[in-house]
Amino acid sequence: MKAETNRSDIMQINFQDKNVFVMGGTSGINLGIADAFAESGARVAVASRSREKVDAAVAQLQRHNGEALGYVADVRDESAVASALGDAHGALGPLDVLVSGAAGNFPSPALGMSANGFKAVVEIDLQGTFHVLRSAFAYLAKPGASVVNISAPQAFIPMQLQAHVCAAKAGVDMITRVLAMEWGDLGVRVNSVVPGPIADTEGMRRLAPSEALADTVRQSVPLRRFGTAREIASMVMFLASPFANYVSGAVIPVDGGWSLGGASAASAAMAQSLAQRDAD
Ligand code: NAP
Ligand code: COA
Repeated sequence: MKAETNRSDIMQINFQDKNVFVMGGTSGINLGIADAFAESGARVAVASRSREKVDAAVAQLQRHNGEALGYVADVRDESAVASALGDAHGALGPLDVLVSGAAGNFPSPALGMSANGFKAVVEIDLQGTFHVLRSAFAYLAKPGASVVNISAPQAFIPMQLQAHVCAAKAGVDMITRVLAMEWGDLGVRVNSVVPGPIADTEGMRRLAPSEALADTVRQSVPLRRFGTAREIASMVMFLASPFANYVSGAVIPVDGGWSLGGASAASAAMAQSLAQRDAD
């Protein structure tokens, strides 16, 4: 089944004069989110580790004729994160929307993962999210700012080969909930969006490297297809808009129903297939 969204279907919300910062916004789903905001009139800043990816993302965002800025920062480095956010604030003014989506993943059984491998993912996904939200707070437009963390089904569905990601993303969703409580009286909303399997992404290339495995995953989704970055962007834009003014502390799957059961079945198939590949 084909995705039913295309460019003209993107939610028509005007983000003119709004400032959006997307951490990890230089490829895949997060770049799709940054691009949708730029298309809707926002000034958008993105950041990640690779200068090359940052420059390419900024060039793509500038095609929408708005202001687009890019910064090099590793989310594991608290001072680099603070500098990027401070510089974006200096250039744009208070941030209306903060998206935190930098993440790392590789499939590995816990016994095949060194302490450093586990730590790398937890430091990027979980500690990194803390750095981003903690540093951004000073620069958020208050009241009215919207923070969206990009989570994953692993946050609440145990998946084989994903001990590091499951632990990290579960933590991300708890940060979402706790900060929704702590920042609510300042008019800052904090939510998580949980993408299902999304087409043409690094995440799916790593977890389902063969077409056969990708098809098994596809068939495990009730809607029988992968999602698109635009479909994730639509939910993030809704959450960032006045239509979601009373939504905070929510963890929202955008996954075609995958987390209802298919994700567990697919996890077993992925583990079996990757174990077979490693044995060959
Ligand atoms: P991706 O293209 O690899 O995106 C990850 C982004 O984060 C890149 O811009 C990357 O840029 C940046 N990044 C990675 N490590 C970083 C670090 N230490 N510091 C700063 N930036 C860093 O992957 P994706 O598959 O689109 O995933 C995007 C998000 O969606 C992730 O949060 C992921 O957990 C979530 N998600 C994805 C799927 C899926 O189907 N793909 C499903 C559920 C959830 P640099 O390499 O330049 O740093
Ligand atoms: N299986 C087992 N361990 C692995 C691994 C794999 N496939 N890939 C990396 N590791 C381990 C490394 O061996 C290392 O541990 P060691 O020092 O004990 O050998 C540890 O993880 C860190 O690896 P390193 O390459 O030094 O980390 P990094 O900081 O350069 O990269 C990663 C972080 C590993 C998460 C890397 O995959 C990455 O940058 N990912 C970003 C893109 C991505 O994952 N996108 C999908 C998002 S869902």
